[in-house]
Amino acid sequence: MTLSPIQRIYVAIDTPDQARAVTLARNLAGHVGGVKLGKEFFVANGPAGVRAVADVGMPIFLDLKFHDIPNTVAGAIRSALPLAPAILNVHASGGAAMMRAAKDALDDTSHARPMLIAVTVLTSLGDDDLAELGIEKSAEDQVVHLAALTKACGLDGVVCSPREITSIRAVCGPDFKLIVPGIRPAWAASGDQKRITTPADAIKAGADYLVIGRPITGADDPVKAAEKIADELDGL
Ligand code: C5P
Repeated sequence: MTLSPIQRIYVAIDTPDQARAVTLARNLAGHVGGVKLGKEFFVANGPAGVRAVADVGMPIFLDLKFHDIPNTVAGAIRSALPLAPAILNVHASGGAAMMRAAKDALDDTSHARPMLIAVTVLTSLGDDDLAELGIEKSAEDQVVHLAALTKACGLDGVVCSPREITSIRAVCGPDFKLIVPGIRPAWAASGDQKRITTPADAIKAGADYLVIGRPITGADDPVKAAEKIADELDGL
């Protein structure tokens, strides 16, 4: 299925303020494909907060990055399923048994099966940080290694930085889903993101979904910003 430009955009709503999140989601419905809610929102507002945003009618990427023993992660996935998220994620570094347990837990739902993706190496970690952790591979090699393991475990894809798209695509093939943050339109401030790519360049490189936060949520007119980004993707 070919996705429309709007369907490719998940807006990251990083706030502990539920009312603000619901208002943003309501205003952006129809202008983005879904909403990403992470730990900042979830720890403050819990499942009820997720339901309040989901009630707006947009797909939810529940970005909780589970990482624990397989039994516990499977339980966390089962507990998340009643929220009917479109996307759930785990850390690939939790290991193959953990990823397989997470995948098997997806069968326990009467809702549409969510996409299950993995985080490979956090983009805040460089080669030196990995060496300190006892990992001898470069960050880039470790990312590709963990993406291949994720695929072998039957998960649907990974979150990756724009610069990792090409090497993961080459190893994991065309159907493996790549969800890409670190996106900045040419007209937006980069903020604390260092390795950034424009929405169009990320899609051209092979991204399936773009996670975009502050260029939309911090804009004077978030709807206009989302429309501008979708326009830039039109016809690619
Ligand atoms: O505001 P901004 O567009 O930078 O938000 C990007 C979102 O994607 C945030 O929720 C951030 O935590 C998340 N993210 C990221 N880089 C990663 C993984 C997740 O920016 N490597």
